[in-house]
Parts: sequence; structure tokens; C-alpha cells
Amino acid sequence: MRIDILTLFPEMFPGVFGSSILKRAVEKQLLELHVHDIRAHTDDKHHRADDYPFGGGAGMVMMVEPIARCIEQLQSERNYDGVYMMAPDGQNFNQHKANEMSLLHNIILLCGHYKGIDERVRELYVTEDLSIGDYVLSGGELAAMVISDAIARVIPGVISDGASALSDSFQDNLLSAPVYTRPADFRGHRVPDVLLSGNQKLIDEWRYNQQITRTKQRRPDLLDHE
Ligand code: ADE
Repeated sequence: MRIDILTLFPEMFPGVFGSSILKRAVEKQLLELHVHDIRAHTDDKHHRADDYPFGGGAGMVMMVEPIARCIEQLQSERNYDGVYMMAPDGQNFNQHKANEMSLLHNIILLCGHYKGIDERVRELYVTEDLSIGDYVLSGGELAAMVISDAIARVIPGVISDGASALSDSFQDNLLSAPVYTRPADFRGHRVPDVLLSGNQKLIDEWRYNQQITRTKQRRPDLLDHE
């Protein structure tokens, strides 16, 4: 899979993309991540990619032209399954969406900043907009990193233990069971005996019951889904 990210702040990405699971996904050639600087697609000698809003008001608006050129260049090189705009008023991004998007081949994630993006970008190029939660970030970059990470970990082969990503919280609309490692006794706080029993059937049952109990306690709304 290939993800192209369009941003005014490309310098935000290398740390996240160069670490942990995302780094591994790229090294295993299961994922390509390309970050594009929208400013590289302006004719303006100061590389301005934003301007004052028509009709007045506070904040700057990202211009249609540089974004259009960047998207059109990419689309001339390969077919894209979708152009996703990061936006607080977008559709709610969740595990189901991450699973679905992990099956695509090429996608573009467009990061807004400042007051927003000229609406004509949405009308002409964007196929879906995505929000990572009901709060406003300074820009879409963090959302694009979150979405890339959530997608990468469910691409088959990225996490070596194939079962691991599928047992994450939210798969099957259940939160995960708690996990423990050594020592078995930390200052009198013991790991549940069942996990030390060696009886895999009992362990699986215990984990499943923990999932149900935790979900009921913390996120009962998840159990209302079909
Ligand atoms: N840009 C600003 N806030 C955002 C959010 N909550 N989700 C996605 N993109 C955003």
C-alpha cells in the first residue's frame, strides 16, 4: 500500500514515520509513505500557499491552486483509491475505517492548517473527509499520522504476530484484556493466578471475560453495535 501525504509542515513526519511499527512496515516493503510539501507547488516566489479569506474574518485559508497541482501530479502518476481530507468536521475515523482503508492500494491524505482549505478543493478533489475526534487540532498532520499508524498495523504481515493486531481493542467492538509480564509479584501486587496456570483454555476464557467486563464498565456504547 502507498500513502501520499500533502502538508505545509513536512518536517513534522520523520520522527513518527521513522519509528516503531510504521518504520517496520516500510522496511518490510508492505507500506510506502511519501510526504509532499504543498509549498513546492506554488509559483509564488515566497512559496505562499495561503491567503486572506474572501469576505473577511480571522485566519488564513489554504489556496486551491498549489493543492490542485500537487494532487494532479500524483494522479497523473498512478490511480488513487481516494483523496482523504483531515478535518474536524469529517467522518469519524475508527477501527472499522482503519481495517477498510488498509485494503486500498494508493491513497492521498490532505492536511489542512490555519483556518481551513479553500472549499473548492473539497468539491473538486476530496472523496472523503476524516476526523480523529471531536476536538480541533492546529492542523491535520497529527490526524494523518494517527490514521497512517492505525492503517499500517492492520496490513497483513506488518505485525509479525498475525493475531496481535486482530486482538487489539476495538476489533470486534471489545476492549482488550489486561496484560502482564515479569515479575509475577510486584511489591505484593500479583499477576492473576490463571495467567500462570499454563491452562490455555482457562486463560482464553479469562481474557474473554475480562474483555466483556471492561467493555461494559468503560465503553458500554460499543456493545450496542450489531
Ligand atoms: N484537523 C483539525 N482537527 C482535526 C481533527 N479532529 N481530526 C482530523 N483533522 C483535524
